[in-house]
Amino acid sequence: MLFKNLLLQTSIVLSSLSEQGHAIPTLEKRATLDQFITSENTVALNGVLANIGPSGSKSQGAASGVVLASPSKSNPDYYYTWTRDAGLVIKALVEQFSVSKATNLQTVIQNYISANAKLQTISNPSGSLSNGAGLGEPKFNADFSAFTGAWGRPQRDGPALRATAMIAYGNWLLANGNTAAATSIVWPIVKNDLNYVAQYWNQTGFDLWEEVQGSSFFTIAASHRALVEGSAFAKKVGQSCSVCDAQASNVLCFLQKFWNGQYIDSNINVNEGRTGKDANSIISSIHVFDPAAGCDDATFQPCSPRMLANHKQVTDSFRSVYSVNSGIASSSGVAIGRYSEDVYYTGNPWYLTTLAAAEQLYDALYQFNKAGSITITDVSLAFWKAIYSSAATGTYASSSTTFKSLTSAVKTYADSYVAIVQKYTPSSGALAEQFEKSGGQPTSAADLTWSYAAFLTMTNARNNVVPPSWGAASANKVPSTCSSGGATGTYAAATNTNWASPSTPSTPTPCSAGSSIAVTFNVLAKTVYGENIYVSGSTSELGSWDPTKAVLLSASQYTNSKPLWSGSVKLSTGASVSYKYIRKSSSGAVTWESDPNRSLTVSSDCSASAPTVNDTWR
Ligand SMILES: *[C@@H]1O[C@H](CO)[C@@H](O)[C@H](O)[C@H]1NC(C)=O
Ligand SMILES: *[C@@H]1O[C@H](CO)[C@@H](O)[C@H](O)[C@H]1NC(C)=O
Ligand SMILES: *[C@@H]1O[C@H](CO)[C@@H](O)[C@H](O)[C@H]1NC(C)=O
Repeated sequence: MLFKNLLLQTSIVLSSLSEQGHAIPTLEKRATLDQFITSENTVALNGVLANIGPSGSKSQGAASGVVLASPSKSNPDYYYTWTRDAGLVIKALVEQFSVSKATNLQTVIQNYISANAKLQTISNPSGSLSNGAGLGEPKFNADFSAFTGAWGRPQRDGPALRATAMIAYGNWLLANGNTAAATSIVWPIVKNDLNYVAQYWNQTGFDLWEEVQGSSFFTIAASHRALVEGSAFAKKVGQSCSVCDAQASNVLCFLQKFWNGQYIDSNINVNEGRTGKDANSIISSIHVFDPAAGCDDATFQPCSPRMLANHKQVTDSFRSVYSVNSGIASSSGVAIGRYSEDVYYTGNPWYLTTLAAAEQLYDALYQFNKAGSITITDVSLAFWKAIYSSAATGTYASSSTTFKSLTSAVKTYADSYVAIVQKYTPSSGALAEQFEKSGGQPTSAADLTWSYAAFLTMTNARNNVVPPSWGAASANKVPSTCSSGGATGTYAAATNTNWASPSTPSTPTPCSAGSSIAVTFNVLAKTVYGENIYVSGSTSELGSWDPTKAVLLSASQYTNSKPLWSGSVKLSTGASVSYKYIRKSSSGAVTWESDPNRSLTVSSDCSASAPTVNDTWR
């Protein structure tokens, strides 16, 4: 019911917007869009989890760690796991987990990683692990057996995307003290995928829509990112990836060839008879978004002049092909499909591509704000003029009113794409693959996992919740001549998938900032009747070395054979504390322990059992 109300309100506001011909946000529209995003984000997270085996509510019977593309078993049958979709979905879940620390997400991520150690070894129509070729197989059955029907194979973006998803989690493990799991579980799987990318990037394959055999911008962009962050991850786990280092700049060099001076031609080395304007390129831009990078053309950052020009060219190509877009002003967002010539399911807009058009703009806003300026060039001018008619080439510092007008126009424009998704999302919040180009009804596969993941990443981008850098800013030097390439990869089955084994301690849960944890002080100290033992120390909880404020320990466990004094004191997590025990006689006389002072560091792992120190009186 909530959704229904929101939908009604929005369509009223949207029609008044298009009458004005200018997307000027009203408070009412902002409020309803925000409400929609908040409620839909919960639907989206649940929608993703429902489609992941073995315990997702719509994936029962699927193997542990299987990310189904959709629960739909007919018209179309998407009850399979695609390496690409799964990689993108898990990448989005790692982003969620890094913020929420929710253990159910962690379990899903770890199941996926364990499952893919096994999946890499399954021989399939693309080949096997021995020379890496089997890693390019696009999809598997829901029980992880090979799918042996005819299909567009190989699809070479899968290994790169899987590597990126796993590296994201591996980096989280490293940052949280679980080097063992990052090294012994994650790295061996990632290593195979990186070797695949380094070996096969310069061969053709099928694009992300599984239709065109050639060179796909998305595949090459994802390959470059994987090699760069893969090399850095290797070093962090005490390894190296020499094939990554050798090939990354060759891949970057090739990537430049998709730019035709006006937009990205998404499929090259093939004549597919299309313009090449394809949401492929917009999805690439959000995939290679690096919050630490500038508006860099070479790595096709979301705020780069090239990618803004491309955004306009690609999104404009959909304005006249769908009747749901008719009458929408050129300054406002529209429903976006895969490419305008699409005929799959008669060729409709998709939720995930419309959301990607918004997400690129939110990413760009983050980058403009971080850079503290916007530079409009001849390349990007047409993009800017469409949303801010007085835009002119130049550089505008964040203190200028022009900067404020430009960023506000981008925000409004980005929101207008999300408003399209809002308008065509049914009251349940369910996101199918597509919505019909004439009436907007959901169509094709129901509950598409990637649609939900796209909603999650759009929301984070809109909220300035950005993923860690992958190193784009130091990997953007394009060689003056491009070398063809392909290393010889080496492959080995990853065998450790036991997250609970002693060599891979369970993942620590960092304590929240400012929290405290009870530390138990045990000291063996023989005392005579009337004497008491206290602990005194450097923090206020221990009385700041003032013996009158020391903490009295309890003798309730004291025996002659084990003269134990014990007590718990709440101390700030992560704090370094020095302390000593003191003895007070019945007369009040204080005796300090002999030097040196004792010291301890309070754990900042809130999942570990409460820390205890065992001391003997000196
Ligand atoms: C291989 O790389 C070269 C150099 O960038 C490029 O010209 C060629 O089109 C690439 N071929 C494929 C299939 O990737
Ligand atoms: C122990 O700590 C106290 C208080 O900071 C200090 O005065 C004393 O010098 C320290 N003792 C030694 C041996 O460092
Ligand atoms: C302290 O002793 C208790 C048992 O008396 C034991 O469980 C605990 O592990 C010990 N802690 C340390 C840090 O040695």
